[in-house]
Amino acid sequence: MPPQSLKSTNLFKPIKVGSVSLKHRLSFAPVSRFRADEFTPNDLMKKYYMDRATNNGGLLTMESVFASMAGGLLPNGLLICSQSQIDKFKFISDAIHKCGSFASFQIVHFGRLGHPAVLKAHGLPLIGPSAVYADKESENLAKKFGNELKEMTLEDIDTLKKDFLLSAKNAIELAKFDFVEIHAAHMSTLAQFIDINSNKRTDRYGGSIENRARLVLELVDLFIEEFGAEKVGIKFSPYVFSSGGSGADGSIHCIAQYSYIYSELERRAKDGKRLAYVHHLESRIPSFTEMTAPPPEYSSEWVSQIWKGILIRTGGYLSDPEYMSLIADVNANDRTIIGAGRYFTSNPDLPERLKNGYPLTEYDRSKFYSGGKEGYNDWKRYCEEEN
Ligand SMILES: Cc1cc2nc3c(=O)[nH]c(=O)nc-3n(C[C@H](O)[C@H](O)[C@H](O)COP(=O)(O)O)c2cc1C
Repeated sequence: MPPQSLKSTNLFKPIKVGSVSLKHRLSFAPVSRFRADEFTPNDLMKKYYMDRATNNGGLLTMESVFASMAGGLLPNGLLICSQSQIDKFKFISDAIHKCGSFASFQIVHFGRLGHPAVLKAHGLPLIGPSAVYADKESENLAKKFGNELKEMTLEDIDTLKKDFLLSAKNAIELAKFDFVEIHAAHMSTLAQFIDINSNKRTDRYGGSIENRARLVLELVDLFIEEFGAEKVGIKFSPYVFSSGGSGADGSIHCIAQYSYIYSELERRAKDGKRLAYVHHLESRIPSFTEMTAPPPEYSSEWVSQIWKGILIRTGGYLSDPEYMSLIADVNANDRTIIGAGRYFTSNPDLPERLKNGYPLTEYDRSKFYSGGKEGYNDWKRYCEEEN
């Protein structure tokens, strides 16, 4: 049976996010592809984003960009520090805008997930909220390269905030992105602070639900003050247990921890500072692979009951050929946007395909991080395929 057209669902109704009006409610979720040169975007990247912005009119979120070199530095990752990095990002945001689409800029710090050898080569330590490795493999790697994990000092925390802020300023004020998205998902540093498995601190950044949430909320407040809440988004993944996360198995349940954070964001909203959006990873993706049927207690319905603003829900929505969860969730209210990651890599014209009920091209996991054009710039639009 051919896939159904989603034209008559809420997915193809326009929606206002911050001060921009999106033509539909499908957004490109951030998918790191590690194609950069010297931590700088290149023409391959520009083409990749332009292809996905063409005939779109929605929101594209860039793959994560490190807040600073100390933020982790993976080979072929990205920074927005130097003038040439800023200029190259502006080429990309200009290209997206020319196509009538909008761009959000995601900033990340990897903390304990940073690469010990790459950091060492730049004279940088491997740091995290506590000296607790994600797993034995990362411990062995850090020891092998003589860059063992250290607990962040209060000064390191201050530096992290300044680095996030500077990168965000470069992205919003100079590279002209519409939004900046704080990456607090997938056990990156901010999630490491939130998670009870990775945060064993005894100061004001650890020990209680409120203290573990302190850093991310401080950063949210800094961003609101600097850019206005309507320019700021944030991504969370409460159920993730890969990279040493506790998911739904921690001694503090993830719903308890994250409902506090979502309530704090809603409290700011009620004070007139509503973030542009909260981006929430569904429990179907608790790790690098997808659960087809997560247990019912892994529902994300509680999120909408707490956070009343725009909610981007991402994770496994396109794996079901009948799009049942997508239709139910996008039609459930007038403020849900569906994020798509993997299928946007292999279907540059994803909005058109979903609107018209065209079949989707399967993504190729082996090419996610493989470098070069292949599996990156060579995916066809439906009208270019031999049908
Ligand atoms: C190759 C790859 C790279 C990713 N990179 C990022 C990233 O940089 N930032 C982020 O927040 N999520 C990242 N994600 C997660 C996606 O944004 C998304 O949440 C996840 O793929 C689930 O959505 P999907 O089922 O539509 O693919 C990545 C996922 C994949 C497969």
